[in-house]
Amino acid sequence: MKRSRMRWTILGLFLFSAIFLAIPTNAQIERNSLAQTPPMGWNSWNKFACNVSEDLIKSVADAIATNGMKEAGYQYVVIDDCWQVSRDENGFIVADAQRFPSGIKVLADYVHSKGLKFGLYSDAGSKTCAGRPGSQGHEYQDAIQYARWGVDYLKYDWCNTATRNVEEAYSTMSNALLSTGRPIVFSMCEWGTGKPWLWGKGIGNLWRTTGDISDKWTSKKKWPNGDCCEYGMVDILDLQVDLAPYAGPGHWNDPDMMEIGNGGMTIPEYRAHFSFWALLAAPLIAGNDVRSMTSEIKEILTNPEVIAVNQDKLGHEGHRIHKDGDLEVWTKILNDGSRAVILFNRGASDSDVSVSWEEIGYPNHLSSKVRDLWAHKDVGSFTGSYSAKVAPHSVVMLKIAP
Ligand code: GLA
Repeated sequence: MKRSRMRWTILGLFLFSAIFLAIPTNAQIERNSLAQTPPMGWNSWNKFACNVSEDLIKSVADAIATNGMKEAGYQYVVIDDCWQVSRDENGFIVADAQRFPSGIKVLADYVHSKGLKFGLYSDAGSKTCAGRPGSQGHEYQDAIQYARWGVDYLKYDWCNTATRNVEEAYSTMSNALLSTGRPIVFSMCEWGTGKPWLWGKGIGNLWRTTGDISDKWTSKKKWPNGDCCEYGMVDILDLQVDLAPYAGPGHWNDPDMMEIGNGGMTIPEYRAHFSFWALLAAPLIAGNDVRSMTSEIKEILTNPEVIAVNQDKLGHEGHRIHKDGDLEVWTKILNDGSRAVILFNRGASDSDVSVSWEEIGYPNHLSSKVRDLWAHKDVGSFTGSYSAKVAPHSVVMLKIAP
């Protein structure tokens, strides 16, 4: 072949594969059509770990249906690890009969009867993180079983996967779920190691971006085997800084389930935790005992103005626009053109934090209405900038409308 012809052939092949690979497949389009706003719900792990049972899940569903959480938008009731014990002679997954005596289908029906949705957990490896049977080699069989049971959401972990390829593993389960014909939101729990934000769109509806959260403001504790880490809330926040461009309707960055109400942080710290998860367009998955929370905790988890920021249909993930030592400003663009803004003080004393119109993309001369989303008050109209005193380890969360 002549050199010039060869060059054209190579260029043609390159263009063909670039175009071909960039066109999403039907499966990717279908996957991305679920979870158009960040999923909201509850998961058993942060509070109850392996102590899960039919009674617990039913009473949690009862609580969510009646305590204002359902009205606020919480939908998915998800059992994390430890509901499963073995496989039967045909390879089907078997639930713990002691803890779930009526079986998973009856439990899912119960959750549905409360107007809520039902979720389960599995793992892409041979075993889950708590050592229960994983889905490796059983993906289609498990997906069929979940669909028969009425599962609406699957969290899929990454323990005991040995040398398994991460994209292959998550694509296999994503396709298996789609093949059932039941819309099942797919939550990828790969801890961010394989940078799922770069390839996860069209495979998962949400993907964990970090290791596990702990109920602390800050902490970086290694696991007993030396692997890194369990993180505090602000350590996780710091790891989200560059990830905003990768999220959108149907595909969200997941900074892990919330710890609000589990007792390890103060009320202002939990308010900051909720404000940031809302601004980051993160899944709002409560992780506390919602059957017995205080009214202060319930007010945080059900603040309608903050939830509206999270559920805004534009699906923009907020990002940091300004950092000056312990003082930061974050913003999220909302569908009506207004901005949600967090004035954040990580420090130990009261500080003034200010946001300029320029940094949120408004002209300086614009007179804009400022509303405080925790005080539930319009604070007035301002031109050029707004500043507020922010208490230690606290936020002021605003909506600024042109
Ligand atoms: C991993 C996950 C957690 C939880 C546990 C269950 O650590 O990251 O969120 O699901 O496994 O064993």
